[in-house]
Amino acid sequence: MRQIQICEVGPRDGLQNAKHLMPTEAKKRWISALAAAGLDEIEVGSFVPPKLIPAMADTAEVVKHALSIPGLKVVALAPNVKGFERALEAGAHKVTFPVSASRKHSESNVRMTPEQMVEQVRQCVALRGPRSSGGPEIEGAISTAFGCTLQGAVPEDEVVRLAVMLVEAGVDGVPLADTVGYANPAQVRRLFRKVRDAIGDKLEGAHFHNTRGLGLANALAAYEEGVRAFDSSMGGLGGCPFAPGASGNVITEDLIFMFESMGIATGIDFNKLLAARAALVEGLPEEPVYGHTPLAGLPKNFRQAA
Ligand code: COA
Ligand code: ZN
Repeated sequence: MRQIQICEVGPRDGLQNAKHLMPTEAKKRWISALAAAGLDEIEVGSFVPPKLIPAMADTAEVVKHALSIPGLKVVALAPNVKGFERALEAGAHKVTFPVSASRKHSESNVRMTPEQMVEQVRQCVALRGPRSSGGPEIEGAISTAFGCTLQGAVPEDEVVRLAVMLVEAGVDGVPLADTVGYANPAQVRRLFRKVRDAIGDKLEGAHFHNTRGLGLANALAAYEEGVRAFDSSMGGLGGCPFAPGASGNVITEDLIFMFESMGIATGIDFNKLLAARAALVEGLPEEPVYGHTPLAGLPKNFRQAA
């Protein structure tokens, strides 16, 4: 029984910012190993111009492989209608759009204002039709929701306003993302509460970066605020190439250790997770990988939550 849902975003958020390219076959092996560990939702890539992010050029092939893994929910990022069309063609189960609350990050990341980005999302929802038609789930993720290295402060009311606009545009869910690791636990509790007050159960999950070491603290704060879906990245890889100073996501291995040791079941087998970490290191040997629990080992009294 899973009590929280973890989406592994390493193959997308992690690899888009890595200094080295992971070969396609190694990506496939890594994704298979992640799924074998119990990670049943994986963001496997993004449909962005290959010239812009060469590491994502093989996303269609990677999606195809991921779709062959039974029970795996295959997620891909798209930044516009063209990316969504490519995701539809590939057959992704869920498509996530990065919608920046910071105007400056929006301009840098997608060369659009937040409003223009919401318009892209609206067109994609129309293209898909009703959820019951069998098309992919569509999520509008609010990036830089907690602050921005380009703009500094991001007003909370702006995040709430965008969340409401996205729900009106027809998205199935709205997660909040701390793209550059500015969030603190008090802010996390406050902002998740405000957004939930505005959009109820369309508020979906939390995407934290560990840039200033607060990834786990923020995840726990979100959990205590009722959030049950978390993004994380194996080995703490990650970061947006268009947000100066961005670094890795909250580390999957440590996040799972935290929840499991609290008795909160994640559905993930820790030993198999270490096998997936080995597949990551094998596919990207020159990239530094992080994580406290994998280095220290599990405590002798550790028990997976039932
Ligand atoms: N996939 C592939 N090609 C795409 C594309 C997509 N999703 N979107 C646009 N293109 C192509 C266009 O066809 C055009 O090709 P051409 O030069 O051969 O005619 C070219 O890219 C430029 O298209 P345009 O619509 O003018 O895009 P842009 O240059 O203004 O860039 C985005 C806008 C949104 C495509 C780009 O900023 C982007 O991909 N951002 C996402 C960055 C990212 O992944 N950040 C990290 C995740 S948060
Ligand atoms: Zn991210």
